[in-house]
Amino acid sequence: MNSILSANSQTQIVKTGFLQFEPILGKPKNNIARIESQLLQAADADLIVIPELANSGYNFESKEQAIQLAESVDNSPFLNFLSEQAKKLNIYIVSGFHEIEKDLLYNTSVLVGPNGLIGKYRKTHLFMNEFDFFEKGNLGLPVFDIGICKIGMLICFDWVFPEVWRILALKGADIICHPSNLVLPYAQQAVPVHGLINKTFNITANRYGTERGVTFSGQSIISNPTGETLVKASSDNDEVSIVHINLNKARNKNITERNHVFNDRFPKDYFEIIK
Ligand code: ACM
Repeated sequence: MNSILSANSQTQIVKTGFLQFEPILGKPKNNIARIESQLLQAADADLIVIPELANSGYNFESKEQAIQLAESVDNSPFLNFLSEQAKKLNIYIVSGFHEIEKDLLYNTSVLVGPNGLIGKYRKTHLFMNEFDFFEKGNLGLPVFDIGICKIGMLICFDWVFPEVWRILALKGADIICHPSNLVLPYAQQAVPVHGLINKTFNITANRYGTERGVTFSGQSIISNPTGETLVKASSDNDEVSIVHINLNKARNKNITERNHVFNDRFPKDYFEIIK
């Protein structure tokens, strides 16, 4: 881990990025091996984001297969692997995780640090066939303070819903980590816009490849609080990208000297949103 806290406190730099790869459906050991070799290229980062359902693959043939490939937090080779890596590299990792708890499946994102599992988010907005396998997420929208920064997590199709990005920003997230298996070809365009509107750094770690007829779009992306794309991956290759970000850009929510992202809101005028 290599975060730099400058002496004058004007800059708070975090080294963060993503792994982009092609998880293989039903081959968790292969997926672990792939992630392990990519993490070597990210060893001096502070925080790394890994795609949705990185342990299992995405497009299950049946509910039986989905159950067979799921792991429980208490007994997970994948989480043990992530914890070992986080400890060895002194790094924080956000990863998609195919989770089972009491016979129910969740499309989950885990946050793991050098001391093991820190927290989880379960996907709120399910996409297409996911309704056949997963329960809707039931853990709300947590934000985790890991000392060097505050992290919120969303998963893939959550990108469509501005409400959840705003809530994470209101809860203080500096960085919104977004493990994904994006399919719709225009999805990446929304990521910098959510960051611009909420003044957050956003990291979408997307997979690529085709799995039982479903093609994923790669183009993992990191954007900053003024909506600029800092890095965008190719659509069909393994890629590891790390950038230095200055957290103060996410913590200053002023738009002009007289405008503020949060203070200028009129929540009482927005009641339709919570109907
Ligand atoms: C998706 O939510 N995995 C498209």
